[in-house]
Amino acid sequence: MNAIVIVQPGPPNVLQVQDRPIPGPGEDEVLIKVFAAGVNRPDVAQRKGVYPPPPGAPVDVPGLEVAGIIEACGESVKRWKKGDSVCALIAGGGYAEYTVANALHCLPVPDGWSFAQACSLPETVFTVWHNLFQRGRLQAGENVLIHGGSSGIGITAIQLAIAFGANVFATAGSEEKCNACLSLGAEICINYKTQDFEELLKSRGVDVILDMIGGDYIPKNIRLLKPDGRLVFINAMKGAESAFSVSDIMRRRLTITGSTLRNRETEFKAQLAAEVEKQVWPLIKNKQFKSVIYREFPLAEAAAAHSLMESSEHIGKIVLVNG
Ligand SMILES: NC(=O)c1ccc[n+]([C@@H]2O[C@H](COP(=O)([O-])OP(=O)(O)OC[C@H]3O[C@@H](n4cnc5c(N)ncnc54)[C@H](OP(=O)(O)O)[C@@H]3O)[C@@H](O)[C@H]2O)c1
Repeated sequence: MNAIVIVQPGPPNVLQVQDRPIPGPGEDEVLIKVFAAGVNRPDVAQRKGVYPPPPGAPVDVPGLEVAGIIEACGESVKRWKKGDSVCALIAGGGYAEYTVANALHCLPVPDGWSFAQACSLPETVFTVWHNLFQRGRLQAGENVLIHGGSSGIGITAIQLAIAFGANVFATAGSEEKCNACLSLGAEICINYKTQDFEELLKSRGVDVILDMIGGDYIPKNIRLLKPDGRLVFINAMKGAESAFSVSDIMRRRLTITGSTLRNRETEFKAQLAAEVEKQVWPLIKNKQFKSVIYREFPLAEAAAAHSLMESSEHIGKIVLVNG
């Protein structure tokens, strides 16, 4: 099969097509013929050599989410059979014509959704569900601030927060990106290149912040949080270290938390998949949640897809398609 291999850490052109053996499914896994694979910022970090895959994951083929048709099932797989259309969360290996996934990390392709749309769901929806709702405990009526609102994660977080009744504020890097966030239902979107989000939001206050930026956003986030507010980190692209006042945390009883999905244990991801299917799949069915695909690339053009992601020109998801 064709697979996109990171031949060495480096720029996008280190992603090259190679011939690799089709993997075999383990006892509790399915083999998926991949029709589409999502591109995520962590794949870029892996390509650069700064985000190594966890033990057991494919070492040099990136790709954290796919959609396709099941080709074969391991002996203990009960829910799925050959021919079923699924999307799946995987710890690597998605940029290929075939991949294996734990059967409990697969969900059905929503009715009427293409493989390209379905592959854009697992990494972002699982990440947002866990961080915004499980760790961040976002409630209806609360104010939530989503940094990077036009990212793959951001468009997912905005839609889910709105579907669950929160008031959504976002940041993004251009007027066009802000308009995209507003059109998804955000009440306020701040162009962080021209405006200070802390200044603009301090009169409202925020209950939950989903942050992937870090750096100088950290003390601003903390100052913005209302009493009992929650700050949830999923990355720190501007830097992981910062000075802030612990007095603020004590006085307003703030919670600072965060997580990374890829290295979590199999059982955790299975429980998360079940929760996502119960909570989010009905929203997709009711058209309260839609895919936002910025551009599709053929699998062989993965390097161009990474260049686009690093340009940050995109709004929403970038996907690779096969066949
Ligand atoms: N912890 C986890 O489990 C987990 C899982 C998946 C993804 N992530 C992280 O989540 C983030 C989003 O991932 P993705 O795949 O959705 O990537 P993406 O679409 O490339 O998103 C990155 C976003 O950051 C925005 N950005 C950059 N600097 C900013 C700033 N100073 N203020 C506000 N926004 C800024 C970019 O927009 P502009 O350039 O226009 O500002 C872009 O929208 C990444 O950092 C990724 O590593 C974490």
